[in-house]
Amino acid sequence: MQQTSFSLALNATSWNLDRVLDDLNEFGFAFIDHVYSPEYVTALADECISHLAEFRAAGIQNGVVSHIRSDHILWIDGQLPIAQQHIQTLHNLSQALNQAFYLGIKEVEAHFACYNAGEFYALHRDNPQQKNDRMISTVFYLHESWEDNLGGELRLQDKKGNWHIIQPLPNRLAIFQSDVLHEVLLSKQQRLSITAWLRSGNSIWNP
Ligand code: OGA
Ligand code: MN
Repeated sequence: MQQTSFSLALNATSWNLDRVLDDLNEFGFAFIDHVYSPEYVTALADECISHLAEFRAAGIQNGVVSHIRSDHILWIDGQLPIAQQHIQTLHNLSQALNQAFYLGIKEVEAHFACYNAGEFYALHRDNPQQKNDRMISTVFYLHESWEDNLGGELRLQDKKGNWHIIQPLPNRLAIFQSDVLHEVLLSKQQRLSITAWLRSGNSIWNP
């Protein structure tokens, strides 16, 4: 299949941008279901799975092992053409967010993430004390199927202090302010995703 046909396959009818902007404004988070065509999600999962051997432990930085998270990740670059189309979608979303909220987003930084059974990511913020330039965090779930009893939920505190549980349903995009508290509960099955940060490009500090 031609790469461009995936972009055309973007499921435009499920994107209610006004609702997303309203939810982000009121609660600091939003999600969109049925983001892409099933064909695109399958192609993305295939690309992810074919590179699993290259994934590295996310909790290890500068040789220090962290007990905060146990997933494995692969940063997305031009070698991953299917994932690049999702990045393009996020650039388009960034434009809408900039127009609505004057966020000044200039860059998208993204990695695949794989949580195998028993893995999790403890409570954290993606932009603690506004120390980096991550404005908005997004997570797209791309495993083939999911069920309620499998754990692996995204648990998140909204701007008003209320907690929410978001199931990692395939073809769902979660969007939230990078400064909100959140965690990934222990997953009982392999859980595949792309985490991406929409960044202002104003800071060189990168945790
Ligand atoms: C992250 C993160 C949430 C999720 O990658 O920083 O919090 O649902 N991910 O995968
Ligand atoms: Mn996070």
